[in-house]
Amino acid sequence: MENPILDFLYLICIVLFIIGLKNLSHPESAKKGNFLSASGMILAIIITLFYPMEGASNNYLVIIAGVIVGSVIGYLAAKRVKMTAMPELVSLFNGLGGACSMLIAFVEFNNLPEGANLMSGNVLTIIFAMFIGSISFTGSIIAWGKLNGALRDNLVLPAPQFVNGILLLAVIGFSIFIMMQPELNFTWVIILLVLSLVYGVTFVTPIGGGDMPVVISLLNSFTGIAAAIAGLIYGNQVMIVGGIVVGASGTILTILMCNAMNRSLLNVIIGGFGSGGKSAGTDREQVVKEASLGDTAIQLKYSSKVMIVPGYGLAVAQAQHTCHELEKSLEAEGVEVKYAIHPVAGRMPGHMNVLLAEADVSYDKLLELEPANEEFKSTDMVLVIGANDVVNPAAKEDAGSPIYGMPILDVEQAGTVIVLKRSMNPGYAGIENPLFFGEKTKMLFGDAKDSLGKLKNELSNA
Ligand code: TAP
Repeated sequence: MENPILDFLYLICIVLFIIGLKNLSHPESAKKGNFLSASGMILAIIITLFYPMEGASNNYLVIIAGVIVGSVIGYLAAKRVKMTAMPELVSLFNGLGGACSMLIAFVEFNNLPEGANLMSGNVLTIIFAMFIGSISFTGSIIAWGKLNGALRDNLVLPAPQFVNGILLLAVIGFSIFIMMQPELNFTWVIILLVLSLVYGVTFVTPIGGGDMPVVISLLNSFTGIAAAIAGLIYGNQVMIVGGIVVGASGTILTILMCNAMNRSLLNVIIGGFGSGGKSAGTDREQVVKEASLGDTAIQLKYSSKVMIVPGYGLAVAQAQHTCHELEKSLEAEGVEVKYAIHPVAGRMPGHMNVLLAEADVSYDKLLELEPANEEFKSTDMVLVIGANDVVNPAAKEDAGSPIYGMPILDVEQAGTVIVLKRSMNPGYAGIENPLFFGEKTKMLFGDAKDSLGKLKNELSNA
């Protein structure tokens, strides 16, 4: 139903989405970007309520009840979630987005006029929205289960790629079959829905838990595409543009994450990362030197330049504030402090930037991979805090390593490297790190927050 005023307001929502997205690309403007995009979404929901709903006016109560329940659950979930559990929450919310597109498509089958020609673009669109929405839904639920440990990582079906291929062919064959029927038989639609839901499960199950951030980003782009297709069903511009924006940004993010790990998307989907691979470290002399708090504090105090390399362990320990305090204490001693941020440090894109911004670390101190690698030569000391894979020299030296080819932070170029972690346990890729046995490296064992706090105290005594 055309309504120029409502359509114009929809255009404002679209502009808010796009300006919001642009602002999200820099940490300083990200909060404003989030606010603008969320305002666009709230406006879009309100405008939609004013669109005339033929013969369905009673639904307002149901819609308002849904909005209230959804808003309360969303607010509480987002407020309570820990930073390290953020990928799980994103996955769950994403799955619900996919479920919406799936349900919309299912309902639209029901709304087809009696005797409608099934071999039409409209029916193809509905089938496509239902299929993609279903994969996003069940795939995201599996990703969520793998991330929070509810599902085992080695839960691999026999011959997964073969099963996936057969299922995909079945979905395509069944869709064509439905479209060729003279009239709609709802039992066929339900079978197609079940096949699509099962495909979502078998698509994500073989992929390792550690690769879930990439998978979530991929499923996120699927949800965007499903929403855009659902928008086509209704001729709703805001759904189409919103869906395209989500689909495109999810795809770009997936590609960026794969590039930063030097892996292809196919390699991620086929799975197996971290399940094998010999480390170059095994050929070196396996001697680990332990650092003492006192000596480390003195060395830090007399350094001219210190580089901090944060990793996933910093997030686990929630050590960002203590880290910033240590940075301030060092600067008070005249030491220059910078942070080297690897693009896949942590477990989600921008993980370290978000943590450090939370602790008020100035953005000018954050160096990306290439500039950081140029500065290590002129750095006296590097503090590797809860990072492992992103500083693993096996990525450069060991062609048999699963992370071979991944660009890493060349911390060994600096004068001394102190690694803060709790044990010799491996990181996400599950492999040994030769850096820990390196000549210039010393290990400071313990929880990162605890060790940083003690280092700060030692510094004032040094
Ligand atoms: P990891 O290689 O996962 O290493 C983290 C280290 O932190 C562990 O070795 C662990 O050792 C230590 N740690 C855990 N809790 C700690 C605590 N409380 N205090 C001190 N240390 C603690 O982390 P990374 O170097 O940041 O690398 C990230 C990995 O994730 C990469 O392999 C990357 O490919 C992968 N990944 C990232 C993304 C994105 S987008 N960021 C997406 C997909 C995959 P201990 O147990 O001995 O303490």
